[in-house]
Amino acid sequence: MKGILLAGGSGTRLHPLTRAVSKQLLPVYDKPMVYYPLSVLMLAGIREVLVISTPASLELFRELLGDGSRLGMAIDYAEQPAPNGIAEAFTIGSEHIGNDPVALILGDNIFHGPSFSPLLRRNAQQIDGCVLFGYAVKDPERYGVGEVDADGRLVALAEKPVRPRSNLAVTGLYLYDNDVVDIAKNIQPSARGELEITDVNRVYLERGKARLVNLGRGFAWLDTGTHDSLLQASQYVQVLEQRQGTRIACVEEIAYRMGFIDAESCHRLGVEIGSSDYGAYLRAIAMGET
Ligand code: G1P
Repeated sequence: MKGILLAGGSGTRLHPLTRAVSKQLLPVYDKPMVYYPLSVLMLAGIREVLVISTPASLELFRELLGDGSRLGMAIDYAEQPAPNGIAEAFTIGSEHIGNDPVALILGDNIFHGPSFSPLLRRNAQQIDGCVLFGYAVKDPERYGVGEVDADGRLVALAEKPVRPRSNLAVTGLYLYDNDVVDIAKNIQPSARGELEITDVNRVYLERGKARLVNLGRGFAWLDTGTHDSLLQASQYVQVLEQRQGTRIACVEEIAYRMGFIDAESCHRLGVEIGSSDYGAYLRAIAMGET
C-alpha cells in the first residue's frame, strides 16, 4: 500500500501563526505537526509516501523529511498549485499510486490510541473498497459526518452538514483500493469549489464498498485548527509523554520498532539530532534502554 500525506491549505484560521509557515510544520509539543500523520502511515506498514503541499511550502517539507532514507522509507514530493480540495491528491499522486491501494492522511490530523498499528494493518490488508475511520465529537457539523445503522454499517455521508444526523466525524485518514484514482478523476467540484473527499467516499458507499471503523471513546483524535485546539494538542502530548517517559509519533523510534531501520541507524539519528532530550531518547531506544 502506498501513502499520501496531504499538507496543503492556507491555514487562515491560525493567522498570524501560519502567514509565513505551513500549518503542518508548526510544533505540537516536541515535534512538527507533520510527524503525527506520518507516524500513522508508518504504523500501517507503509514505506512509500508522497507528501503533497503548496509550491511555497514544499521545500520546507523536503528539508525536514528528506528522501525518507534516514527512516528506511522513500518519501517523494508533489505540488498542489491551488487549494482545489482533498480529492485532488489522487490525481496529483496517480503516478505514485500506480496500481496499488493507497492510504491518504491529512497533515493536520493527530491520532493516538491503543493497538492502532494492528487496527490499521488489519484494515489495510486486501482492501476492497474504502475504509473510513469515525470518531464521536460534540461538533460534527465542522467535519465530514457518517451515519451508521443499528449494526454499525455506514448508510450515509455528508460534508459539514448544517444539521448532522449523527455525531460521528469522518477523520482525515482514508484507506482505498486502486479504484480511487478513477473515481477522483470523475468527481465535480462542490459549491465551495473543491474536489471533496466526501464525494469520493460517497461513490464507494453507493457501490456498497465503504466501511466505517469507529475508533471508539478510548482513542484520541485531536483537532489543530484553532489556537486553542493547537495548544491543547501540545498539552495532551506533553502530559502522556512526561507521565510515561515515551514519545508519541516519534517517527525515528517507529522506523526502528517497525524494522525499517536497525539500532545503529536509530542511534545515529539520535546523535544527529544532538543535545535535545529528543536526541537522547533516540539514543536510549537504540541501546535498548527504553
Ligand atoms: C476535511 C474533510 C472532512 C474531514 C476533515 C478531517 O475537512 O473535508 O470531511 O472530516 O477534513 O480533518 P477540512 O479540513 O477541509 O475542513
